[in-house]
Amino acid sequence: MKIIKLQDLYFTPFISKDKISKIVKHLAEQVKADLPKDEVPIFVGILNGCFLFAADFIREFNGNCEVSFVKLASYQGTSSSENVKQLLGINEDLTDRTVIILEDIIDTGTTLQEIYNIFRNKNVKQLKVVTLFFKPDVFRKELPIDYIGKSIEDKFIVGYGLDYNGLGRNYPAIYQLTTKPKMKNIVLFGPPGAGKGTQATLLKEKYNLVHISTGDVFRFNIKNETELGKLAKSFMDEGDLVPDEVTINMLKAEVEKNATANGFIFDGFPRTESQAIALDEFLAEKGEQINGMVALEVPEDLLVERLLERGKTSGRTDDTDESKIRNRFNEYNTKTAILKEFYQAQGNYFGINGVGSVESITVSLSKVFDTL
Ligand code: IMP
Ligand code: MG
Repeated sequence: MKIIKLQDLYFTPFISKDKISKIVKHLAEQVKADLPKDEVPIFVGILNGCFLFAADFIREFNGNCEVSFVKLASYQGTSSSENVKQLLGINEDLTDRTVIILEDIIDTGTTLQEIYNIFRNKNVKQLKVVTLFFKPDVFRKELPIDYIGKSIEDKFIVGYGLDYNGLGRNYPAIYQLTTKPKMKNIVLFGPPGAGKGTQATLLKEKYNLVHISTGDVFRFNIKNETELGKLAKSFMDEGDLVPDEVTINMLKAEVEKNATANGFIFDGFPRTESQAIALDEFLAEKGEQINGMVALEVPEDLLVERLLERGKTSGRTDDTDESKIRNRFNEYNTKTAILKEFYQAQGNYFGINGVGSVESITVSLSKVFDTL
């Protein structure tokens, strides 16, 4: 998921669509469980922010119910200091009804106060309040909130109905206000032997980026016989991928070591979808993101040839044996190539023809880097 920009502000992914669904479902189940068996409540959504929440909530509510929407409008009274609030849209007779308010977010509680004031005179049987989000640190009222989906810290959020200056309501996930991203982070992608290492070395100079090759970091650790090295070696010698958790932790440590960098070229990482998700989350916490995956595309037979050639001089045990090389392609094709789809879905995949001279490929890559 990417950082989004709404007018002058940047927002980083915060709560996924799936997480929201779970929260909404849980709320609907709780509300249902607390109602008398045959009670038909009337849900009243407070517009505009609640429209998506209300739509999902009532579909998770397992029972008969009515639904209505209101808008809280303020108009200036005759005296200049008078600010009168009015609910627009309530036409139903609410006498002796169970009214359940659906709010997207309760912040200071000022809006909630107005709602309580207005419903107080409507002779309802009971009034309950359900809010998807709640900011406990800024809530200033002594008013009951019966159901809270999720309490969050006092940071501005958008998405799933919530807006910033009218924008952002259409995003299916929730995003949190962040600072403008400072880094250019690129995943350099391609099968073994595609020339990632060579190109990364050239591009890091040109764009003043830090190159992190997970393979190199592992080999460094193996050479120095660190704990991580011993662990990684057992997998790499067989042409297998090192387990995700080991790799992710190592990568995070490398990024932290270079906290002030202009950005990173990730080479050999992420290699699985779960690594890609972990990387997105890790960067999002820093208000940064992957700007793009740039992939070198080279036919497999040409690659085997190149790797065997490299194996003669590189001393890499995984480069000398054709069956081990084929095993790496197998790993690549079954697990890693899924990443192409992952970044494509984000609109973040850029394929480059990796056949040609080193210089010409650097030129093609630079054209893409410039746009990211
Ligand atoms: P309250 O009256 O201070 O509780 O604020 C409630 C209203 O403020 C909500 O209905 C939203 O319209 C708006 N609001 C408060 N916090 C946020 C936020 O983080 N994102 C978007 N709107 C918010
Ligand atoms: Mg609202």
